[in-house]
Amino acid sequence: MSEQQQEVDLRRTFAIISHPDAGKTTITEKVLLFGQALQKAGTVKGKKSGQHAKSDWMEMEKDRGISITTSVMQFPYNDCLVNLLDTPGHEDFSEDTYRTLTAVDSCLMVIDVAKGVENRTIKLMEVTRLRDTPIITFMNKMDRDVRDPMEVMDEVEDILKIKCAPITWPIGMGKGFKGVYNIMTDETILYQSGQGHTIQEKRIIKGLNNPELDKAIGDYADDLREEMELVQGASHEFNIDEFLKGELTPVYFGTALGNFGVDHMLDGLTKWAPKPLPRETDTRVVNAEENSFSGFVFKIQANMDPKHRDRIAFMRICSGKYEKGMKMRQVRINKDVRIADAVTFMAGDRANVEQAYAGDIIGLHNHGSIQIGDTFTEGEMMKFSGIPNFAPEMFRRIRLRDPLKAKQLQKGLIQLAEEGAVQVFRPLNNNDMIVGAVGVLQFEVVVHRLKNEYNVDAIYEPISVATARWVDCSDNKIFEQFKRKSSENLALDGGDNLTYIAPTMVNLNLAQERYPEVKFMKTREH
Ligand code: G4P
Repeated sequence: MSEQQQEVDLRRTFAIISHPDAGKTTITEKVLLFGQALQKAGTVKGKKSGQHAKSDWMEMEKDRGISITTSVMQFPYNDCLVNLLDTPGHEDFSEDTYRTLTAVDSCLMVIDVAKGVENRTIKLMEVTRLRDTPIITFMNKMDRDVRDPMEVMDEVEDILKIKCAPITWPIGMGKGFKGVYNIMTDETILYQSGQGHTIQEKRIIKGLNNPELDKAIGDYADDLREEMELVQGASHEFNIDEFLKGELTPVYFGTALGNFGVDHMLDGLTKWAPKPLPRETDTRVVNAEENSFSGFVFKIQANMDPKHRDRIAFMRICSGKYEKGMKMRQVRINKDVRIADAVTFMAGDRANVEQAYAGDIIGLHNHGSIQIGDTFTEGEMMKFSGIPNFAPEMFRRIRLRDPLKAKQLQKGLIQLAEEGAVQVFRPLNNNDMIVGAVGVLQFEVVVHRLKNEYNVDAIYEPISVATARWVDCSDNKIFEQFKRKSSENLALDGGDNLTYIAPTMVNLNLAQERYPEVKFMKTREH
């Protein structure tokens, strides 16, 4: 087997999708604990301890104890090399979250069993559906009084339209949480509370009918036996093909806080989740095992480290191998660049990488020439597809306190739009600048960065815009007519693409009915 093939086989690249407060941060801590990337769990967010992981880059984030930005952590587990891409977890989120999901091969869905399926999870699952990403499910917070697990599993099936195959099944809940029964291995793994910060020694009882089980958990043993008959009749069996197609999800139960069950999930992930998958380009499909290097940029982040004051472009390697000092072609501008100082993010720490393979994420220093969606190769002229812009859902007019700074404002906004931090729209009929975002926190980030990086003092004003759609039409005559008639609703985005700005959804519906030939698009590819 070639070196490239071996390295590809080792890699598992995933992200966590969940609703805020379901436990993503806690799971990340425990995952890193198992990966032994952190000596003691509890430093990723550390709201209480006052410690912060190095992925937190802006003071604003530190003040709020949230992580707006996406970072990457690599760690070894079960003979695999796992890359976990962190996605923003606050109430608010940005397009980075979506685009991060284009850079992974599988996702972990975390559900708070007390709450069931919540709306952010629904939204993120929709995004994973664009590529049929395989999903592993972790049902969290079993140490609390939660809802009936069977009912929550049904809810996942009904709302998210994915079949559930329980791999483990919980025994009791809340104060009476005793552990889980692994359906596939016919083993009960017992839970001990108060061990959340350590890797616990597993207490395992083999066999559902083992009298040891009755000794260990008393009446719960008979309840479990009865329940297992029901569960096995009413749920799906795990099937690897359906999992890989994104049609079925293996389900694990546990408590992240109690550090119980996260390792079971990691065992499943390393065993079943796909190694780096083939990726489509505009000319052909690229396989991870190919020797020639290729990758795409899915995110750009500015000033991650205030001491460095630089921008980092996050690249997912799709094939071949990165070696320090290698030459890459930036396809969009058809230019060769030598990359000597790519970085990786081992548990939040930066380190220079010597080598990286398909499935890995590397950070390139960007002095303004790299854009989201850029493809890098060893010379082949191709472009990876499927890195979308999403139609924003919130809009504000941005206004300067000092009108003389109009040029800087425009420059700043267009650069921030290139990075994907926000979207900007310039109406054809007036000199407004409209900022569009997927989440409200993006607005604050933009004003903060305009001030710090471009020395521009800007404020927002409300504006009545309900939504925006990119527009296009294959019939030139009809398109020209549409443009004339709708000019007051048209604007150019940061990349000069024509956009329809709708004051109300009713207005949008009417425009769509009136011009059936015109395409109104919710996403636009970079
Ligand atoms: P998020 O990143 O998805 O937003 O969730 P996070 O891990 O921050 O967890 C949200 C809250 O839920 C935290 O409590 C966390 O301690 C708690 N939590 C996570 N997993 C479990 C679990 O398995 N069992 C129980 N009982 N609680 C869990 P908090 O008080 O809001 O935050 P903190 O002050 O403890 O940081």
